[in-house]
Amino acid sequence: MMELVVAPACSALSGTVRVPSDKSMSHRAVLFAGMANGTSLVRDVLDSADVRSTISALHWLGAGVRVLGGGPRGLVLEITGWGDRGPTQPQGPVDCGNSGTTARLLMGVLAGWPVRVTLTGDSSLSRRPMRRVADPLRSMGARVDMAGDGTLPVTVHGARLSPVAYASPVASAQVKTAILLAGLRADGTTTVTEPAPSRDHTERMLPAFGVSVSRESPLRAAVAGPVALTAAEVTVPADPSSAAFLAVAATLLENSSLVLPDVAVNPTRTGFLGVLERMGAEIVVRPAEPMGTEPIATLEVRSARSLRATRVPAEEVPSLIDEVPILALAAARAQGMTRFEGVGELRVKESDRLEAVRSGLEAVGVPVRAGADWLEVTGTAALQGARLSSLGDHRLAMTWAIAGLLAAGRTVVDAFEAVDVSYPTFRDDVEALLGRRLA
Ligand code: S3P
Repeated sequence: MMELVVAPACSALSGTVRVPSDKSMSHRAVLFAGMANGTSLVRDVLDSADVRSTISALHWLGAGVRVLGGGPRGLVLEITGWGDRGPTQPQGPVDCGNSGTTARLLMGVLAGWPVRVTLTGDSSLSRRPMRRVADPLRSMGARVDMAGDGTLPVTVHGARLSPVAYASPVASAQVKTAILLAGLRADGTTTVTEPAPSRDHTERMLPAFGVSVSRESPLRAAVAGPVALTAAEVTVPADPSSAAFLAVAATLLENSSLVLPDVAVNPTRTGFLGVLERMGAEIVVRPAEPMGTEPIATLEVRSARSLRATRVPAEEVPSLIDEVPILALAAARAQGMTRFEGVGELRVKESDRLEAVRSGLEAVGVPVRAGADWLEVTGTAALQGARLSSLGDHRLAMTWAIAGLLAAGRTVVDAFEAVDVSYPTFRDDVEALLGRRLA
């Protein structure tokens, strides 16, 4: 386990960084290519532990994956899908590592094929709820065996599927996508309705692979099966969730001026920009050429003169679900008390993020309270360095590293290597923008 020592920043963040490619879109692009008939070309795929989990799962399931190149923007992959042949029966379990997206999406992909596949994961993923996907897949006709508490290892016994009209109790793009992907193998129309709109990359990307998705409202998506995917060319833009860490750091460090090009600004992902704007952040969003159906922008961030607290209501949460830890850090430097509502889902992410954010902020001297599904953070002028842990959660590792730049004295982040899950070059990028080593 790697510990990161962080000294107070002393300097501003300035310069331009193209943050790594979007994790959600990278998973989908390689997965859809692996399912398709023909050979797809996928450019700028995030080269991180999570996406590697999806790539190696595809390999074990019989897709051909060739790495044509790799550069600062990500991997260039040529992927020959299993298409109409379907996935091959793997010899052993498929390891999904730390990646909830890999495990949940694969459950849906496998449910309609004559295979029996066991999915495993690391200790964090093995604690996360899988019943939310297993139940609707069972109602479509698949058999899904799980550990007693509804966790991994999960064994999917594929079957002939019937379509469903599923009203999901949770706004989750992983649940929605798993059911839609299973629906591609069912005879008829499969519909998913959500309580609030979750990220819609699946709905936007499937048409590039020749599958139409009907969307009567932002809360409902439907596919008509049976239908096969056909190979496509897809390029993945930069990840707004990764950009959020640097945007908050530049907002909070005096005299900063940061440019983040090529960032996906799909409205189902950019709730954090609205929150930061309400708090008084200075972020200009300059629209750029869209990539396929995904809107893109350059974000220009300058330090804020001062920040004020805000309320983040439950309706806003799905559009910023992965940004709550870093927004809570912004709130720790704002005037007044910021309240996040309807954030109970954070308890079942890569860690119990609600409790982890509460205890981490408390450790650096911030008045903070959390309930079953809310978080209240009261801003304070002075943070003090402390020993913090990522708990193996990438988004906590990055939040605590930035807290260390703001705090007086030395901060230590245990298990910092968790950043490899979504942003392996985080430290290099921050050091380049600061013009110095972190410690
Ligand atoms: C993701 C959906 C979200 C998000 C995760 C990625 C996806 O999870 O938190 O980081 O790619 O579909 P939920 O579907 O559990 O909300």
